Amino acid sequence: MATTIALAGKGGVGKTTIAGMVVKYLVQNKKEAVLAIDADPSSNLNMVLGLDLEWTVGDIREDMLSQVKESLVTGGAAMGALPGGVSKRDYLDYQIRSSLAEGDHVDLIAMGRSEGPGCYCAVNHKPA
Ligand SMILES: Nc1ncnc2c1ncn2[C@@H]1O[C@H](COP(=O)(O)OP(=O)(O)OP(=O)(O)O)[C@@H](O)[C@H]1O
Ligand SMILES: [Mg+2]
Repeated sequence: MATTIALAGKGGVGKTTIAGMVVKYLVQNKKEAVLAIDADPSSNLNMVLGLDLEWTVGDIREDMLSQVKESLVTGGAAMGALPGGVSKRDYLDYQIRSSLAEGDHVDLIAMGRSEGPGCYCAVNHKPA
């Protein structure tokens, strides 16, 4: 049975450092595979784990949104589909699997979040 360990707390208290140490301990002492999930919008667990992170779930979301918007303009795609007839669900499943950074007995997925509209960073906050 899978066990989930979550680390939360205020900024700079050592969440990422502890996460890296917990992953290292599990990889060295347990037989089961480890999936690390970096839910911080400013992803950096990959650096602690020494893994290359090319895509985040946030990047994939932005990419899908722009494709859907483009298909609405061109009128090429059916409802719920992307250009080429691929369903959004299949595309999302494929992209998220592809975004996994694979390490030695540990994989990493990062939620991420692109900068710009929709991001909750202070720089993008517009007073109501
Ligand atoms: N036990 C510790 N003693 C001293 N320094 C530590 C300790 N744990 C972490 N640090 C240092 O504190 C800083 C912040 O650590 P870390 O990035 O792990 O925190 P965080 O909670 O993930 O931060 P953020 O909220 O920005 O994601 C780093 O420079 C790290 O090296
Ligand atoms: Mg952190």
